[in-house]
Amino acid sequence: MAESSRTALITGASRGLGLALARALADRRWSLILDARGADALEAARTELSDTASVIAVPGDVADPAHRQALADAARGLGGIDVLVNNASTLGPSPLPPLLDYPLDALEGVYRVNVVAPFALLQALRSELKTGARVINVTSDAGVEAYEGWGGYGSSKAALEQLSAVLAAENPSLRVYWVDPGDMRTQMQQDAFPGEDISDRPPPEESVPAFLQLVEGDLPSGRYAARELAPATA
Ligand SMILES: NC(=O)c1ccc[n+]([C@@H]2O[C@H](COP(=O)([O-])OP(=O)(O)OC[C@H]3O[C@@H](n4cnc5c(N)ncnc54)[C@H](OP(=O)(O)O)[C@@H]3O)[C@@H](O)[C@H]2O)c1
Repeated sequence: MAESSRTALITGASRGLGLALARALADRRWSLILDARGADALEAARTELSDTASVIAVPGDVADPAHRQALADAARGLGGIDVLVNNASTLGPSPLPPLLDYPLDALEGVYRVNVVAPFALLQALRSELKTGARVINVTSDAGVEAYEGWGGYGSSKAALEQLSAVLAAENPSLRVYWVDPGDMRTQMQQDAFPGEDISDRPPPEESVPAFLQLVEGDLPSGRYAARELAPATA
């Protein structure tokens, strides 16, 4: 597949929102660097998207420094990236435990994946960011609302939001977006509501148009709610 001049690195792109966004960017002939821990599902995504785009798949855990370096090496090999989408995330234990019962090792694990890893990946990639690069950190309404059971995941997203806000203040040459995609019918949503019917949640594809606006437009750094930025038309 011909190389594109625009490159995005999307973490957690083997399913859910990450894969939906990767499909949309592949259709627009972006070059893609994708990761996820499960190598088989990631390879299936790479195979599918390689019909339309240049795709590099790097299996691994975003919490692993060696894996983040491998992603940075891939970015350097493509001459840098225009967009980093920190989408990979963990919900933590399911069912969601109340804070007074929350296992502390699990809480640390949630913070490692949802807070430290996105920031550490950006540090690893800093010299691979092209001029005017966009950094998109995927957050959640649980980062700003106090829902029972959502204290671990929600506080990790709150921390991610504040990191994003300070990063934007410190780097006016970057566009830094922290984006709530809204509820989506994905594995994470099912894990949050085990045994419940989640078929009323919209598919992740409905959140993608807002991400495309941020990736291809020139909106100022800030917090965005995907469904407000680009409401579903159907
Ligand atoms: N679903 C919702 O309703 C909802 C609402 C608000 C915000 N969000 C946010 O939206 C984003 C996408 O969520 P989703 O619902 O699409 O989740 P999902 O369907 O569970 O997909 C998560 C993706 O991330 C990968 N992943 C998970 N942990 C990883 C790790 N440590 N290292 C590398 N890859 C990892 C998964 O693959 P592996 O498991 O193979 O690694 C998968 O590709 C997340 O940031 C989430 O917090 C979701």
